[in-house]
Order: sequence, then C-alpha cells, then structure tokens
Amino acid sequence: MYRTHLCNELNKKHLGKEVELSGWVKSRRDHGGLIFVDLRDRYGLTQIVTDPTHNKQAHQIMDTVRPEYVVHIKGKVRARPEGQNNLRLKTGEIEVICHEVEILNEAKTPPFEIDSEVEVNEELRLKYRYLDLRRDRMKRNIEARHKTIKFVRDFMDKQGFLEIETPMLIKGTPEGSREYIVPSRMHTGKFYVLPQSPQQLKQLCMVAGLDKYFQIARCFRDEDLRGDRQPEFTQLDIEMSFVDEKDVMDLNEEMMIALCGEMVPGKKMLQKPFPRITWHDAMNCYGSDKPDMRFGLEIKDATEIFKASGFKAFSETIKKGGVVKMLHVPGAAKFPRSKFDSLEELVKVYGAKGLAYMIADKGELKSPILKFLNEKEIAAVKKESGLQDGDSVFFVADEFVTACTSLGHVRLACGDEFKLRDPNVFAFLWVTDFPMFEWNKEENCITAAHHPFCSVKIEDVHLLEKEPMKVRAKAYDLVLNGVEVGGGSIRIHKSEIQSKIFDVLGITQEDAKHRFGHMLEAFTYGAPPHGGIAWGLDRLIMIFCDEPNIREVIVFPKDQKARDLMLDAPSTLPEKQVAEMHVKLNVKNIS
Ligand code: AMO
Ligand code: AMP
Repeated sequence: MYRTHLCNELNKKHLGKEVELSGWVKSRRDHGGLIFVDLRDRYGLTQIVTDPTHNKQAHQIMDTVRPEYVVHIKGKVRARPEGQNNLRLKTGEIEVICHEVEILNEAKTPPFEIDSEVEVNEELRLKYRYLDLRRDRMKRNIEARHKTIKFVRDFMDKQGFLEIETPMLIKGTPEGSREYIVPSRMHTGKFYVLPQSPQQLKQLCMVAGLDKYFQIARCFRDEDLRGDRQPEFTQLDIEMSFVDEKDVMDLNEEMMIALCGEMVPGKKMLQKPFPRITWHDAMNCYGSDKPDMRFGLEIKDATEIFKASGFKAFSETIKKGGVVKMLHVPGAAKFPRSKFDSLEELVKVYGAKGLAYMIADKGELKSPILKFLNEKEIAAVKKESGLQDGDSVFFVADEFVTACTSLGHVRLACGDEFKLRDPNVFAFLWVTDFPMFEWNKEENCITAAHHPFCSVKIEDVHLLEKEPMKVRAKAYDLVLNGVEVGGGSIRIHKSEIQSKIFDVLGITQEDAKHRFGHMLEAFTYGAPPHGGIAWGLDRLIMIFCDEPNIREVIVFPKDQKARDLMLDAPSTLPEKQVAEMHVKLNVKNIS
C-alpha cells in the first residue's frame, strides 16, 4: 500500500491518526534540526516533518530528498504549533510527524520551478509538459475540462442523444481549412483525410434515423494558428433530426446556461435568454460577426450625412456603393496623438484606407478632415453620434464589410482602453442569418461561408442563380465575450438543392459526384430535415478558466508552429517507411 489518504485530506479530525502518504516533494526546508517537506499530489499539499529525536533514520533519508523526488511516508497526524497554521491550505492546521520515508524515485532538478506563480517560457513548458502539468494552474484547467465534458455528456444523455464515434480516417469534409492527409499503404497513390469535423458523418447518421447524435469530436485543421486555434481541437458535435433553427438554439442555450451555472457560478450572466441578432445587424452595429456585448459603443451609419461631402474619400466611396460608418467613443478626446495613429494602423490591417476622426476638446472641434466638412455635416455628426465635449468620433468609409469590421476593431481597442471588457461578466449571444457565400479574394472565386451543406433561407432561394452573395444561410453562431464558441446550421436534405449549391460554388457535377457522391446519394434514400451545431470546447473552457489562449486548457497542445515540442512531432521517418507509403519526398535538406 502506498497511501491511506490523499495530500489534501488530512485535518484536525485526524489528529493522532497513523497515516501513509505518497507524492512529490514540492519543497524541503531545514529548520533548526527539523526538516519540513511539502508533499504534493494531484489533490493538494501536506506538510511532513522529520525530527531526529523522533526517528533518526527517517530524518536522514529526508535529508537527501530534493524537489520532485517521489516519496512514500508513514507517520502520525499532529497539530501544527501555535501560530504556524496556514489557512490557505486545506491541511493547514496539521502536519505529519514522520517515522518512515521511502524514496520511490529520484528526480533531476526540473528545468523550471513547479509553481503556478512563477512565469515560465512557453517553449520550455511545452517541451516538459508533464512537469508543467504538475502545476496547480494546469491541474485546475484539466479538471475544468473533465467536468465540462462530463456535464455535457450527462446532459445530452438525459435528452436522449446517442454518443456516436465516427471514424478519423475519412475522405475530406470541407470546413474551409486545409486538411491533414494520411497516405494509404494498401492503396497506392490514395490518401485518407483526417476530419476537419464529423460534419458529413453526423448528417449520414441522421439519414440512418439515429435522430439525436453527439460526440466529443477531435477535429483536424491545417490552418494558421492563433491563440484560439489549434490544428487539433475538440468539439462538442451535435446533430438532430426534424428540427429548425430555434429548436437547436433553444436546446443549446438551455445546456449552456446549466453548464455555466455548474462551472462558473461566480460569473454574471449578462442576458438570459441570450439575445439573437442577425449577421447583418451584428456587423452593422458592432463591426463583427462575433461581437463582444459586454459593452455598448455601437457603430452608426453616416452615409446619408456625407453623400455630397467635400471630403472626397467619403463621397466617392459612397458613389461607388460604399458606406461611411462612425463610432462615438466617450472620453476619447484625451487619447494621445500616438493612440489615434495606432488606431489608424489597426484599421489598415483590416483593409480600411484610413481612419478619420473628430475630437471635441474643451469646446473646440479638432479633426484632420475638418477643412473638408461643412457646418451641416458637422452638426449632423454631432446629433447622430451624440458627440460631447471630451469625446471622439471615428469614421471609416469603405464597402460595408470593411468599414464595419475595421471600426469593429477600433471599438474593441477602445473597450480594452477603458477596461469595459469585464472578465467577470459573461455576455452570450446568437448571431443568425449568415451569408451563405463569401468572395475568396485570393482565389477570386465564390466559396461557402460556413460549409456547403447549410440550408438557405426559403425566401432567398430565388436569389441563388443571379445574386448568390445576397443569399442567407440558416446558420447560427454562439458567441461569448467576443469569441465564437459554437456554430451550426440547418442542413440541406434534398439532393437537388445540394446540387444547386454546388453549381453556385462552381463545383462541377462530376467533381461533386467524386467528392460528395455519397451525400447526394444518401439524400435520395429518405433524408429527414436535420440540423446541428458544434461547440469549440477548448475555447469555451479557456474562457471558463480565464486563460488567455487554448493551449492552456489542452493537455498536450501544439505550439504556434503546429509542433509538439515534447514528442518532437512532426518528425522525419525512415526512408523505408516513407517508401512503403508510396510517397516520394520532393524536398532537400530536411532539418
Ligand atoms: P465550425 O467550423 O464553425 O463548424 O467549428 C465549430 C466551432 O469549433 C471551434 N473551432 C476551433 N477551435 C479551436 N481551434 C480551431 N482551429 C477551431 N476551428 C473551429 C469554434 C467553432 O465555433 N461542422 C461544423 C459545425 C456544424 O455546422 O454543426 C463546424 O465544424 O469554436
Ligand atoms: P488624406 O486626405 O488621404 O490624407 O486623409 C485625411 C484623413 O482622412 C486621414 O486621417 C485619413 O486616415 C482619413 N481617411 C482617408 N481615407 C479614409 C477612408 N476611406 N475612411 C476613413 N478615413 C479616411
């Protein structure tokens, strides 16, 4: 036997009890002949004391232990001396006076201190992730992950959903990212693709009549990484038959509210039921399809005001079908010049040509474009925006999405500047009615904004041929504090409509048959109306844990360059193994 108790268990109720504990040495302190060791396991810490007058041998062994040694001790629980209690610890009123120490394993000096308070270089943390995971912060996150998934599983089960595992070695399923591919040894020149999501398979489960599917699904996407993206991540993936948008949103909202009640009861849920706004309104008012609703600062339209403006950047843009959007920021007159410059740089990142502004400062109006504006325009801006002394108004003129998006980022930057993004507030919302298609500027072609299996709004079907960019999908995203934590749609369940969408996307019948023939065929055998959603579990848990990026809530994440630094993956393979896969490398000097 290694232990009678865990390291967080003992307290005053156990005084006088003979116990055995096992764990890692967090620290060892030598005080006037006594040695104090903080023994750590997953659950907590217990203070162990050796005293040469009590047991010489135990004391001598304890004298040789170092941080991260694994030890097994036997001893008796006693009260800590007066004034020595540590009330931050569950075991803070007791200690164990030790009569036997067994060193189960020695440990080299770790490359960093196993202490949540100490900042450690991330590369080092990822290389030695198994040590990093010994830290409280990581343990707390991994536990939160477990609890979240457990909660969701139980909830889904109660609602009659079946947890169904779909395969990993599949044929590509488009979610808009590059895919990870796996060469086939048995089928020369052929490849499997790892799923970007189980999208097609879950839809096929609906054709099968399984009715309510869910999966804690691993997804693979070979995309550029950011703080909230990993090449391998986990979704709560859901699909349901005989549902419309409201059914899916209602069920998910109920589950999310219950989950937050369990996981983050201290957070203030801003609005219940969650607001539901269209993609157009979200872009128009907040400049984002995932607006952070913890604060106001709504964007307003100024197109009418500047239609005939002497400032050509505005009036010419409007003539070409563009818009002028404005953002009123109370208190922003005090921004230093450098802040205005950095905001202008920011909007340029999002494609805007510039950022004009007006500052109302001590009764005086300042603006780089003032000389181009007339009294009427200025008066209208003041009236429509609500500009008061001490405030600023920012303007961007461009086509709708660019103008809104770039001002949306100014809005977020000002939200940060004025600390309006309160981490203790949870602001959920649903964004609905997304455009079905978007224009891919790089490849100059139309693509599915979400994926090509989304159903379109009935009232927009007639636009499919002539004005596809105006077609809206029956799609919805769940947003929390400006992060897209889930997204889904009602699907197409008829093969002729699916073929029409492929037509718009320029996917030839032959190509469609090759890539999605199985879907089109399945739809001819009685597919029910169906729809679903997938939650990005890593992102959600990241917010639950107040972490700045999803790597912190993934046990063995990839780094920013998609490498596993601990396993050293990806790595080269012996030539023979590569050749067996019928793959010929076309690169020199692999490092
Ligand atoms: P979507 O592509 O929107 O939809 O993904 C659903 C949710 O998954 C999360 N997510 C990610 N999390 C971490 N790293 C990534 N690289 C990453 N990409 C996406 C996001 C997102 O909201 N099959 C559809 C769902 C459906 O229609 O039912 C899908 O995968 O939180
Ligand atoms: P310019 O006359 O081009 O130097 O621009 C004068 C001011 O207007 C600068 O502050 C620019 O950032 C801003 N500006 C230029 N084009 C636009 C635009 N399309 N939308 C908003 N501001 C702009």
